[in-house]
Amino acid sequence: MNSKSLGTFTDNFYQEREDFLAKSYPGLSKQRLKDELEQFALQKLVNVDDLFESQYIPSGKNPITYFFDCLMKAYPLEYIRGRAHFYKSEFDVTPSVLIPRNETEILVEKSVELVKEWTRKSDEIIRVLDIGTGSGAIIISLLQEFERPIEAFATDISKEALLVARRNYFNLRFTIPRESSLNLIYTDRMKDLSSEKFHVIVSNPPYIKEENDREFVHDQVDSYEPHLALYLKDETYDLWFVDLFKQVHNSLYEEGMFLMEGHEDHLENLADLCQNIGFSTVEVLQDYTNRNRFILAKK
Ligand SMILES: C[S@@+](CC[C@H](N)C(=O)[O-])C[C@H]1O[C@@H](n2cnc3c(N)ncnc32)[C@H](O)[C@@H]1O
Repeated sequence: MNSKSLGTFTDNFYQEREDFLAKSYPGLSKQRLKDELEQFALQKLVNVDDLFESQYIPSGKNPITYFFDCLMKAYPLEYIRGRAHFYKSEFDVTPSVLIPRNETEILVEKSVELVKEWTRKSDEIIRVLDIGTGSGAIIISLLQEFERPIEAFATDISKEALLVARRNYFNLRFTIPRESSLNLIYTDRMKDLSSEKFHVIVSNPPYIKEENDREFVHDQVDSYEPHLALYLKDETYDLWFVDLFKQVHNSLYEEGMFLMEGHEDHLENLADLCQNIGFSTVEVLQDYTNRNRFILAKK
């Protein structure tokens, strides 16, 4: 029977699979792996005092064994733990939702600025919509930034994703002013909200072309993250966005703002399509690596 300490087992596991782990989990150091394992153990109510000195016997019932089995399949760490850090909080994630990305935090920062501008020029309750909310990470992070009440709406075409967003809203409700609200709506883009008006609309929609862009998608992403969150059909890609832009334009107040994340190779073209809908200004903005990453449009 194997009776190594968990620390020795983890060290050996890391050394024996260093290339595989580097490919599957870029930048994962041995220390970070141990930190993740400790967090995971804590969540599973394993006693973590002297965790790495304790004896480890692999077994089907041991949650630690599940952790290492998942690593062997290159399963994303966030799905293993069921949690992902984003902006100022930790969000629940399941394989039904995209793991929120660092670059999307820029979208939150910019949308906070857009909402702040409205709070400076209007005493009305500001109404904000997030299209394709997934885990709810964007809209919940935004709500956390305002003491003044915000009326927020978020849509998704995945019922499973909306359940995760609901759970995150419940878990993080104490970080949001009591007077603010979040309505989660199951619909295609914003179809069931066509009679509503918003000051700011944000979105991180699926934006990878299913065929054209697929070869550039990391294997781990393609294998485990929901395709509904990632891909759109090549043939109807532009039309999908034109339809979205029309719905957004129709539902913004005058001078209302739209901020959308997109694919660096397609944003210039989408910005032209957006301009044709009748927005007064449309800009393409870059992320911290200077890649085209967002469209900002004003009605
Ligand atoms: C790229 S993910 C973004 C998730 C989350 N907003 C984030 O930034 O982490 C896109 C989301 O849009 C949803 N989605 C895909 N097609 C949609 C549609 N037609 N209408 C509404 N939501 C859609 C997916 O289910 C997914 O949750």
